[in-house]
Amino acid sequence: MRDVPSNRELRDLVVGVDQKIPLPNGKYVTAINFDNAATTPVLYPVLKEINRFAPWYSSVHRGGGYKSKVSSDIYEQGRSVVQSFVNSDKERDIVIFTKNTTESINILSFVLSQQKKHQTVVLSTFMEHAANDLPWRTKFKVDYIDVDRFGRLSTSDLEDKLIRYRGSVKLVSVTGASNVTGYLNPIHKIAALAHKYGAKILVDGAQMVPHTSVDMMSYESLEHIDYLVFSAHKMYAPFGAGKRERLTPWV
Ligand SMILES: Cc1ncc(COP(=O)(O)O)c(C=O)c1O
Repeated sequence: MRDVPSNRELRDLVVGVDQKIPLPNGKYVTAINFDNAATTPVLYPVLKEINRFAPWYSSVHRGGGYKSKVSSDIYEQGRSVVQSFVNSDKERDIVIFTKNTTESINILSFVLSQQKKHQTVVLSTFMEHAANDLPWRTKFKVDYIDVDRFGRLSTSDLEDKLIRYRGSVKLVSVTGASNVTGYLNPIHKIAALAHKYGAKILVDGAQMVPHTSVDMMSYESLEHIDYLVFSAHKMYAPFGAGKRERLTPWV
């Protein structure tokens, strides 16, 4: 038995892969999607589950009817699956479903800005997607960790900045994988440094979670990840996406 599926078998998983689209000259051709980093197509097994659930869909945690209870239960199962997928702490962590990574980071930035003090600093990096830069800029003093000429993050600059701000850095907000270079950041090393200096870490997992396994790790470890955000629409599901975060406040 072969372990590796053939190209045809893989294509057969993808909804709309043979869809014809119109050209300006009126001809129709099969579209090739080169932009899976932005949004992936839906897979048939995902569509099948959505269709299976659709007749049961009703108000989640807002109704006492039978369908409501089924829907609420399935949503909670979804949260549990997401938690297992990134190995988060089921007692202390929560999963919040949002539309996408951008919305998640915006919500978190608003929540954390309610708790900020005058000097609160957020450290971001020069390799971030706008989704993990703009939300912080408007609400916090933000400084940026250097990258080298290959686009790799300088962890020594991170530590220099953590020392320089003397405990004022409350959050290090860093991408797990660059959407420009594909470079993977050493998120656990970054987490350990952030925690050593009293900061928390947010990992933008929009490009990382679809491409590599992610372990949020136990609270016992300095290397644990406090906030992880990522998008279901970049992982072969349509529409909604996920954000998960630690329950503990940061100040
Ligand atoms: C690294 C990274 N972060 C965040 C985002 C924003 O994701 P979304 O479109 O799901 O809000 C993207 C989108 O491509 C991205 O590549």
